[in-house]
Amino acid sequence: MLEVSGLCKRYGEIVVADGITFSLQRGQCMGVVGPNGAGKSSLFNLITGVAAADAGHVRLDGVDLAGKRAHQRARLGVARAFQIPQPFPKLTVFQNVLAAATFGAGLDGARAAAQAQAALERCGLAGRAAEPAGRLPLLDRKRLELAKAIATAPKLLLLDEVAGGLTEPEVALLAALVAELKAQYAVMWIEHIPQALHAVADRILVLHFGRKLLEAPPAEAMASREVREIYMGLAAESAEDADAAA
Ligand SMILES: Nc1ncnc2c1ncn2[C@@H]1O[C@H](COP(=O)(O)OP(=O)(O)OP(=O)(O)O)[C@@H](O)[C@H]1O
Ligand SMILES: [Mg+2]
Repeated sequence: MLEVSGLCKRYGEIVVADGITFSLQRGQCMGVVGPNGAGKSSLFNLITGVAAADAGHVRLDGVDLAGKRAHQRARLGVARAFQIPQPFPKLTVFQNVLAAATFGAGLDGARAAAQAQAALERCGLAGRAAEPAGRLPLLDRKRLELAKAIATAPKLLLLDEVAGGLTEPEVALLAALVAELKAQYAVMWIEHIPQALHAVADRILVLHFGRKLLEAPPAEAMASREVREIYMGLAAESAEDADAAA
């Protein structure tokens, strides 16, 4: 479904993608981890067309996305969900998803409404369809992000830290939803919360300074020296921050 090969991108001195190569099938989830600034979101920018690659290729179902703009890639099946949900707060939950079905999938009338309704049902939001989106609690706003993404009828679902801010039980609920959704899509999921990825990801892509350090099943990736160093590094940094704050 997704083939990324030799992808390169730099901003001046900063290399955000340094020859990244991997592939992903429908029904699979690739977790993406790496320290802050490793190039995780930049990889999504290169896949969605928000940023143009300096070299390398992104192919979706055999179609080379080079030169295609972000909205064209969306029509071809690339959908992205963000950490901070940004619904239209005054529109209802249904209207928000309807907008995604209309403008993302290019549907109209009854077909757009049916697609929106199906997305709400798949994400467990059908019961809240008539509520203003701005009143949803955080977990449901996250579900709404996913519903909006799948309402665009994607092939590839890119999730950028969608579990941020949730409690541990909520993370588990969201991970269970992603696990259900992945049967139908190819999913890439950037997350700093290893447990979330552990439950859902088939493989983990570890990025560091734009380089692919490792691609392995979750248990193997999390046990690797590289990842332990990254996470212990992060743990040490946050302990220092805590000390500094105290
Ligand atoms: N448009 C841009 N122009 C210049 N530098 C950029 C641009 N986009 C990203 N960068 C830089 O590239 C590096 C990688 O950023 P990126 O957002 O991909 O990191 P990340 O792995 O998603 O980090 P985080 O975990 O903090 O979200 C960072 O140093 C960032 O400042
Ligand atoms: Mg990021």
